[in-house]
Amino acid sequence: MSNLVRYDVQNGVAVLTIDNPPVNALSPEVWEAIEAAVARGVADPSAVAMVLIGAGSTFIAGADIKIFDVLKTREDSLARSATIHALLKRLEDATKPLVAAIHGNALGGGLEIALACHFRVAATDARVGQPEVLLGIIPGAGGTQRLPRLCGAQMALQMCTDGKPVPAPRALAAGIIDDLVEGDLLTGAIAFATAKARAVKIRKTREITLGIERVRAGLEACEAARAALAKTARGLGAPFAAVSAIEAGLQRTFDAGSLRERELFAACVVSTESKALRHLFFAEREVAKVPDIPKDTPVGEIKRAAVVGAGTMGGGIAMAYANAGIPVLLKEVDDAALQRGLATIRKNYDVTMSKGKMTAEQVEKTMALITPTTSYDGFDQVDIVTEAVFENMELKKATFAQLGKVTRPNCILASNSSTLDIDQFAGASGRPSQVLGHHYFSPANVMKLLEIVRGRDTSREVIATSLKLAKRLGKVGVVVGNCFGFVANRMLAYYMREAYLLLEEGASVPQIDRALTEFGLPVGPFGMQDIAGIDVGARIRQYLTSIGKTRAEGPQSAIPDRLYAMGRYGQKTGAGWYKYEPGSRTRISDPLIDQMAEEEAAKRGLERRPIADEEIIARITTALANEGARVLEDGYATRAGDIDIIYCHGFGFPRASGGPMFYAETMGLATVLARVKEYRGRFGDYWEPAPLLEKLVAEGRGLYS
Ligand code: CAA
Repeated sequence: MSNLVRYDVQNGVAVLTIDNPPVNALSPEVWEAIEAAVARGVADPSAVAMVLIGAGSTFIAGADIKIFDVLKTREDSLARSATIHALLKRLEDATKPLVAAIHGNALGGGLEIALACHFRVAATDARVGQPEVLLGIIPGAGGTQRLPRLCGAQMALQMCTDGKPVPAPRALAAGIIDDLVEGDLLTGAIAFATAKARAVKIRKTREITLGIERVRAGLEACEAARAALAKTARGLGAPFAAVSAIEAGLQRTFDAGSLRERELFAACVVSTESKALRHLFFAEREVAKVPDIPKDTPVGEIKRAAVVGAGTMGGGIAMAYANAGIPVLLKEVDDAALQRGLATIRKNYDVTMSKGKMTAEQVEKTMALITPTTSYDGFDQVDIVTEAVFENMELKKATFAQLGKVTRPNCILASNSSTLDIDQFAGASGRPSQVLGHHYFSPANVMKLLEIVRGRDTSREVIATSLKLAKRLGKVGVVVGNCFGFVANRMLAYYMREAYLLLEEGASVPQIDRALTEFGLPVGPFGMQDIAGIDVGARIRQYLTSIGKTRAEGPQSAIPDRLYAMGRYGQKTGAGWYKYEPGSRTRISDPLIDQMAEEEAAKRGLERRPIADEEIIARITTALANEGARVLEDGYATRAGDIDIIYCHGFGFPRASGGPMFYAETMGLATVLARVKEYRGRFGDYWEPAPLLEKLVAEGRGLYS
């Protein structure tokens, strides 16, 4: 017998323990070992029933996601899922009661195995779910057929289309599980199995029939789900496929419904959507692995924090700490600024409360963790300070010099600068090994990305502590190098430059924004800048000019600076790239911008022309990929996947395309390179192929190999 599933008999019940660390993922060998263990239990005269349980921290986290890469064609996938479906039927046909004992998570194939068992019991804090849709696939082991038979179509639709796990008490109420076990799960499961063995009756989920009324309600729920997804999942395939599979199960026999599930699963698993989402699943976990920071690097504990600056970013960062239960001092220069900052924080929490996501009591408890101050008193007690003052080199250096004096020597000093040189702050602080960048994205209490910017002298311990802290704050921390704009904003400069140039060449602001939102971004470049503030970019350009640099070389559009000079900073001033009615965020297009574009085009001797949406997408994504390749080659990002994570979490780049680098890989790097060269011929030498791109294409390699 394989070690993947251990077998022993306790009190007359065969205990089958799956042991495939870390999460008991279902490799083909684990499936086989489970079947063999069940067959042994059935044949064992000393066992009257069987309990299937997981070793370690969880029951089963689902199929081993890596094996989907092996399924190259629809036919491979159909064959594989037919094998699994048949195996599950054999488990269900076992002649002794088979009880799944769930702790931790029963997800994907893990829940599907449990559904094929005769009964399910769970620890009170366990969760069950069908998260396949988050990987661009649907449950492929009978989940769309068995789950509705237990909990009804409506709930099954919810679980299979949003992918969110359900807590055990809710699963019990819905009929997905049969009992909750307080105390030792195995003991409770053995007692449950023994009682069921005495009652003899074995219940096969696949034989449950929904009455005519429930079927009718289910079919209506399928229609409603499709209509809702048309708004929330536009352009995606898997959520709609899940609805179709459940619908087939309502209309057909179990076997015919299962066949439909297999066909839909097979189409999904070879889709670009699924490849992209599976890539992000692993990239999200890989990101925490930094080559020269071994797992055993000492990690400091963050018990108390401080934030300097209570503006939009500082306030959001303080909220992120408070939300994670970490007490935080919030410092401003004077009481008026402090009160403004606190009022914004209060308003944000009120909005959260009005959406029912927090109770009044939780808000008060969380707000109480934020201590406002106008002095540095108490800074000698904190483990980390995040500086979030105005984006100005001299001001930030002065702040770091002060922080170096008022904090303990082992306190981490982080800057929320979005562009400036971290090493200069490190020098000013007098203890460079403790200094690094913590670049949050607005709104900092919501956006999941944290760029952890490594300075020349930042210690490994400070990086490792930051990675752990990011997780605690509910963020994805990505370690990046200290170049101008780091990774996110360095690449963004090329994205924005292309948007400005497309505008001058003949596209309009609403067209460019629409093309990119249809591509899948939550907001286009101009809408985004109106939110962030046109003044922010203008001041950065002024600073760069003062030190003799530009953000992205090549032609620069004068329009952003013209808007800045007019005081059109975006939403906050009622006008920017768009106009806004007082108190409204509805974007109203402004003919003045087209006029400016015409003037600037004339100055550059450009004949304006109609530009297709496809060209907008192609130029902007090519600009991102080309600069991303430079960032990689220069070593400012560790892996192409890290850049994908930065763009998906920081800017809402569509996950179903896997991030800007994965999107380029999907296009084919040779195609991307050919585009760069074509654009150089058409638009000028500022389009220069990244050497890494040329090298990879010449060698026939990809960004991920
Ligand atoms: N396959 C392969 N590896 C997996 C895995 C899976 N299903 N689930 C987790 N892992 C790996 C992770 O990659 C990670 O590996 P490293 O340590 O090498 O980075 C390790 O297990 C631990 O995972 P996490 O870091 O995510 O640990 P966590 O404690 O934060 O979360 C979890 C645990 C909630 C189970 C989370 O890992 C998770 O959500 N896993 C994926 C669940 C899922 O999507 N299941 C459906 C699979 S598809 C399917 O089952 C299809 C079908 O119908 C047959």
